[in-house]
Amino acid sequence: MIEFWLKLWQLTRPYKGRFSLGVLCGVFSGMADTAVLLTVAIVAGAAFPGDAALPDKVPRWAVNIYRSAQHWIAPHSSSRLALISLVSLIPLVMLARGLVNYLSSYLMNWVGIRAICDLRARLFEHLLHQPLSFLARNSTGELMSRIGSDVGLLQVMLGVSLVTLIREPINVIAMGCIPLAISWRYTLIALVTLPLCVIPVAIYNRKVRKSAASIQSETAGLNRVMHESFTGVRIIKGYNLEKIAGERFRASQGKFVNHSMRVVRATESPGPIIEFAGAIGAAILILFMAGKVSLNEFLLFIFPLLSLYRPIKALVRLQSDLHRARAATTRVFELLATQSTLVDPPNPTPLQAAHGDIHFDNVSFAYEKEPGLREIPVLRGIQLRVQPGEKVALVGKSGSGKTTLANLLLRFYDPTQGAIRIAGVDLRQAAVADLRRQMAVVTQEIVLFDDTIRNNIAFGRPGATNAEIEDAARHAFAHDFIMEKPQGYDSIVGEKGTNLSGGQRQRIAIARALLRNAPILVLDEATSALDNQAERVVQASLDELMKGRTTICIAHRLSTIQNFDRIVVMDAGQIVEMGGHAELLAKGGIYEKLHSLGSTLDGTIP
Ligand SMILES: Nc1ncnc2c1ncn2[C@@H]1O[C@H](COP(=O)(O)OP(=O)(O)OP(=O)(O)O)[C@@H](O)[C@H]1O
Ligand SMILES: [Mg+2]
Repeated sequence: MIEFWLKLWQLTRPYKGRFSLGVLCGVFSGMADTAVLLTVAIVAGAAFPGDAALPDKVPRWAVNIYRSAQHWIAPHSSSRLALISLVSLIPLVMLARGLVNYLSSYLMNWVGIRAICDLRARLFEHLLHQPLSFLARNSTGELMSRIGSDVGLLQVMLGVSLVTLIREPINVIAMGCIPLAISWRYTLIALVTLPLCVIPVAIYNRKVRKSAASIQSETAGLNRVMHESFTGVRIIKGYNLEKIAGERFRASQGKFVNHSMRVVRATESPGPIIEFAGAIGAAILILFMAGKVSLNEFLLFIFPLLSLYRPIKALVRLQSDLHRARAATTRVFELLATQSTLVDPPNPTPLQAAHGDIHFDNVSFAYEKEPGLREIPVLRGIQLRVQPGEKVALVGKSGSGKTTLANLLLRFYDPTQGAIRIAGVDLRQAAVADLRRQMAVVTQEIVLFDDTIRNNIAFGRPGATNAEIEDAARHAFAHDFIMEKPQGYDSIVGEKGTNLSGGQRQRIAIARALLRNAPILVLDEATSALDNQAERVVQASLDELMKGRTTICIAHRLSTIQNFDRIVVMDAGQIVEMGGHAELLAKGGIYEKLHSLGSTLDGTIP
């Protein structure tokens, strides 16, 4: 629990000025109820002197205040001025109480909202820096749930619960002082029933802790199913899977009801129990006081006692909020604590990709396996040296490991064996950002953001001018179709680029790579979605782009890579053939087979 408070404290540290002020206001607001009660009692006592017989046991100081108020009024009572100024104390104290209540809530929320936004941004950035393997292990929906609802709970904690936590204990103590000052014996009698409330509260407390944690993970599960379903909605509709998806959603809600109801019970049941116990206490008290004190005495005694129940109830109810917030904090900070496996070295070596070769030195790789499963090597003993400015094509059957090899070069993963070097520098010795600055990539699955076409291209080089963007689009054979859109470059591409055709998306991605102007170019099936004519034009501009750059191009359609310096044929994670187009054809190996198959499929004789 201490750890939890320390973490909260750390979050609010940047705003400690306002936070302390908020706590201070909270302290005052805790005393405010008692102040109001005392003011009313004193003013009323002075205004109706005949009716107010003071109980014998009221302490000296209280009697003194009371008497001097009465003395002050007595000589002026005819003018009424004194009375007016005395009664105006009541609204004044009320106003002060409202002010500190408001300020404590306002300031704590001010700090809470900001602290939580900081935390959320920190978590988001932290997750973006995690390696692909981490993001593959954790579903998008779950991560979103952590950033959204888990962090949101903490905001409630800081803005609402913390106010209660500061205000109400002080309220209880201050209010409790009144009956204690009048008679500690009667107060004890009134409190004998208190243990009665504590037992059920303690029992529920233990149960609610587990349920609170479960609710958060169930919510994450729901988010996962929703995210998957909405992003895959075309398949769901196309294959009439609405019902099945609905059932999956229902199933994932499984224990949600049970856990939530447990939390509801834990939150709501202490209230009536406390009130019931309080009523028993009051009844016992009447029994003891009957005939010994006047009605006035009794009222002055019982009223503050009864006012104690509201803050006590709020404090007990707070327990379940605290548990939920604690569960959320644990999950959030767990995520923040995950170390990236791809960390930059303390003194990264700068990469000089422009004039350096790329060397895959005996590289083997396997994707992270599930625990208990066999590790399947995807790349085995890759030995490949790409000279600066060389154009190398990777070809091979589907699943032979081409994309994986490109992923290793981008350092989305590290090789399990061997090393990749650029200009003699092991990628692990360089800063990841430096490495990626040297590369322009067109990935096999095109990724566009739900933004304008212009911005999607500009992601290639933030800060590029409009002229540069349009120039890149022209070279990628995209300018014409962009201009045909009603809003031109300012058209929104839709989520994942759904407003564009597959070929158009690909051309935007090529324009983005063109704009990047990096020394190493990685093209993974960059033109696969284009028709023959468009492909030829884009290919021409890609040829232009490749001049003077080291290029690794993955292609299924072999017609596009015939003029490459070298063609590398992969099979089952190994390099099986390497050489120029004519050389490999003459060899009559896998390449020749792929080639003859491709030619008949394309219907063209190269
Ligand atoms: N994230 C991943 N986790 C586990 N295995 C993967 C992952 N990505 C790919 N694989 C496996 O690695 C192997 C090589 O995949 P890769 O994507 O490199 O093939 P490819 O040669 O690019 O194929 P294609 O021509 O179809 O794009 C495949 O057997 C694939 O199942
Ligand atoms: Mg691939």
